[in-house]
Amino acid sequence: MNDQLPYLDETLSIEERLQDLLSRLTLKEKFSLLSSQGRHRIYVTKGIKRLQIPPFKVTDGPLGVARHSSWFKKNTRFPATISLAASWNRGLAHSVGTAMGQEVRACGRHALLAPGINIHRTPLCGRTFEYFSEDPFLTKELAVQFVKGVQSQEIAACAKHYAANNQEIDRKTMSAEIDERTLHEIYLRAFRALARDAEVWSFMTCYNMVNGVYGAEHEYLIRDVLIDKWEFDGMVMTDWLATGGIEDTGSCVDAGLTLEMPFPAKYKVSSLEKAFEEDKFTEDSLNDLVIRNLRTMIRTRALDQDEFVPSGARNTPEHQDLARHAAEEGMVLLKNKGDLLPLNIEHVDRIALLGPNLKKKFGRFLYGGSSAVVPPYEITPLEGMKNKCGDTVRVVHDPAKADVAVLFMGLDHSRGMDSETYDRSSLHLPEKQIDLILETTAQNENTIVVLIAGSPIAMDPWLDEVSAVLNAWYAGMEAGTAIANILFGDINPSGRLPITFPRNLSDSPAHHSGDPRNYPGDKEKKVYYEEGIFVGYRWFDKKRIEPLFPFGYGLSYTTFDLESVKTKQNILVSSDEDIILELQLRNTGATSGSEVIQIYSRDLDSSVERPVRELVGFEKIFLRPNEAKQVSLKIGAEELAFYDTNIHDWTIEPGDFMLEIGQSSKHILARTEISYG
Ligand code: BGC
Repeated sequence: MNDQLPYLDETLSIEERLQDLLSRLTLKEKFSLLSSQGRHRIYVTKGIKRLQIPPFKVTDGPLGVARHSSWFKKNTRFPATISLAASWNRGLAHSVGTAMGQEVRACGRHALLAPGINIHRTPLCGRTFEYFSEDPFLTKELAVQFVKGVQSQEIAACAKHYAANNQEIDRKTMSAEIDERTLHEIYLRAFRALARDAEVWSFMTCYNMVNGVYGAEHEYLIRDVLIDKWEFDGMVMTDWLATGGIEDTGSCVDAGLTLEMPFPAKYKVSSLEKAFEEDKFTEDSLNDLVIRNLRTMIRTRALDQDEFVPSGARNTPEHQDLARHAAEEGMVLLKNKGDLLPLNIEHVDRIALLGPNLKKKFGRFLYGGSSAVVPPYEITPLEGMKNKCGDTVRVVHDPAKADVAVLFMGLDHSRGMDSETYDRSSLHLPEKQIDLILETTAQNENTIVVLIAGSPIAMDPWLDEVSAVLNAWYAGMEAGTAIANILFGDINPSGRLPITFPRNLSDSPAHHSGDPRNYPGDKEKKVYYEEGIFVGYRWFDKKRIEPLFPFGYGLSYTTFDLESVKTKQNILVSSDEDIILELQLRNTGATSGSEVIQIYSRDLDSSVERPVRELVGFEKIFLRPNEAKQVSLKIGAEELAFYDTNIHDWTIEPGDFMLEIGQSSKHILARTEISYG
């Protein structure tokens, strides 16, 4: 503690420290706190030596602590965000967030530039792997826990990219044209939850424009919605170099942008000085921005003595174990003809292992973009399979000479696949891979395809020919171990799809019309979200299009039976109430495993068009063979709401709602009704 400088006193409240510090800053110092250092220090803000204010240091996210922003450190590489979403496991999201927070701290940084919570509008978006889901409810439920985990380490999480950065093509110049209801109901909903429920400490704006205005100067998005409506009190930073198209410093200040990254341009001290002298903004509005940055800094203990700062940890056996466990929880078994899986190690003599992803390592420097984490080691599928097979099963190359052939296919992080800055060029696997699958199935009827990819893949003409498909995503540094554990049955798969797998690209909402105005943009670089709120399964349900694999889908090595369902009360009168669903689930197979029970709601009499079904609740339940569990599921009544453009807010209309209890959005096991109002 320091008697002379109250803002350095850790025992005072954050607001007391802030007021004291603000009173000591000169105008110029205030300006300097609004941008990063630039040059070679593009993840570090400017400190103020005179006042012992250190630079604020951030790092990418969201797969762990990235090498390029942690002074070239190798860190635990966790599975991609879409894999975490496929776990449908809130506790896991919290644990992964906590571990990442510890790694950020151990790297001497203050903020993790994660989670990415943009909605999967098109399966071609190059960053689909970095985002959670096509569904805002699933996104928010997991992202809230992730943020709470990160921030439990007094490290700031960062909700990005605010908002509607749903494609990589022309991301710095395009404008997402979205109506008000769709914007709030689909694209802002998870951001709202992070601001309100997780109390996230920082936001990152998007590169793109939303309805003609760039994210970094979007007064409606930042000032009106984020700050005024959701009462967000933290830092709002730009995405890196996102102010290129913006002309005015004043518009960014007015909007509420608090930090320009990674070079000062609109927030260069001289630009700010000039704008201030021209009365483009007042000192009060400047103070507001400065206070938000300092608040986030104090929250992360950037100004505190070491003894007050939580100690971090990186590359611990616990984190590596968690990375493996998370990988296993996220993998989705898509097909398993004749129960070929799990493989019985005693019954397999020879196994053929092939495919372009068999030996590939994904944790390379900037591979895939800013999310790239380089781990100290990475278990490839080949290594994982060899470790598992040991001397018991012989690994061969020729499928004709094997009992089983496993093909490690999918995508990678090169341009045109799952990668930042570009979108995918096709929904299909590359031709060569399709040929290899068909050649293999012609030689071996027990062919298993393991897909390593971060976005949906169309599977004609090979799906019918293969016996099993495991969707492994980008599973992090322990991917090989996790895959082998699932294929040989040490682990029962329990992942469920957080995104619809379409049969064809034209089945999905952004591509349905085939018109560039819907994707990737017309001549004026405008992308019209004409499907409105009907994104993902909401679209497939409305248009009655049969997907290849529906949202929420995933197989298990065991079977489950929903034995009973009842609601504790059938009438709700206030939006603060919870619906309590009591259900009994039994494992009716011979293997332990987890089922994800999903609750969808349907508004039975609404004044506006609503989706056929919308996810409002879920629970992952672990059961031993023949075990039954009574589970009580709580669903906030507010999940039944829609965004009403008459009042510019969410509303629940009085009336009846159908609740569907299912194993996926297409496999409904039971229905029950409740009334509201
Ligand atoms: C990405 C952000 C990332 C930032 C910093 C940008 O290109 O869009 O997600 O956090 O770079 O590396």
